[in-house]
Amino acid sequence: MTGSGGGGVVATDFRGVLRHYPTGVAVITAREADGTPVAMVVGTFTSVSLEPPLVGFLPDRSSTSWPRIRRVGSFCVNVLAADQEDVCRAFVTKAPDRFERHAAGDAVSGSPKLAGAVLWVDCDIETVLPAGDHEMVLGRVRDLGVSPEARPPLLFWRGGYGAPLPPG
Ligand SMILES: Cc1cc2nc3c(=O)[nH]c(=O)nc-3n(C[C@H](O)[C@H](O)[C@H](O)COP(=O)(O)O)c2cc1C
Repeated sequence: MTGSGGGGVVATDFRGVLRHYPTGVAVITAREADGTPVAMVVGTFTSVSLEPPLVGFLPDRSSTSWPRIRRVGSFCVNVLAADQEDVCRAFVTKAPDRFERHAAGDAVSGSPKLAGAVLWVDCDIETVLPAGDHEMVLGRVRDLGVSPEARPPLLFWRGGYGAPLPPG
């Protein structure tokens, strides 16, 4: 077991410890006023509140996509399935055909929905809070849905991709 025991936390300790905590992988999408789609991949999507219905994610302050999504004022969270590592890479690398290949219609907000996602959550931006070198975005849920096949999610853990063991 390693640990710094408090005191000054350095980036290598921070990343080296927290990479052991798994996350899901979600693509946050939005559509700008002129119809241009925008998206970013996050591991920080989380459910926040039922009353009112809020979800959240944490964009890095250096993100170029987040200011565009913020300007739109709404977004759709698309949680990727275990067999969608290629979709994740397409959006991280900004493949030119990523929306043509993977989008399947729009949510109520106009944000693109991705084919094959485990679930999607369409939101209006409610609050943006400062969070160090990130910001914390809270979205008020307008609409949401889950894949009828109840697909297993893609996991990101210790720098690689995987899938959960089914419960039971
Ligand atoms: C599995 C995974 C999880 C990520 N999680 C986040 C995140 O929570 N917040 C974030 O700002 N970037 C995250 N990133 C990095 C962004 O996807 C990447 O920097 C992104 O393209 C943003 O850059 P851009 O907005 O300038 O295009 C993640 C990347 C991967 C592969």
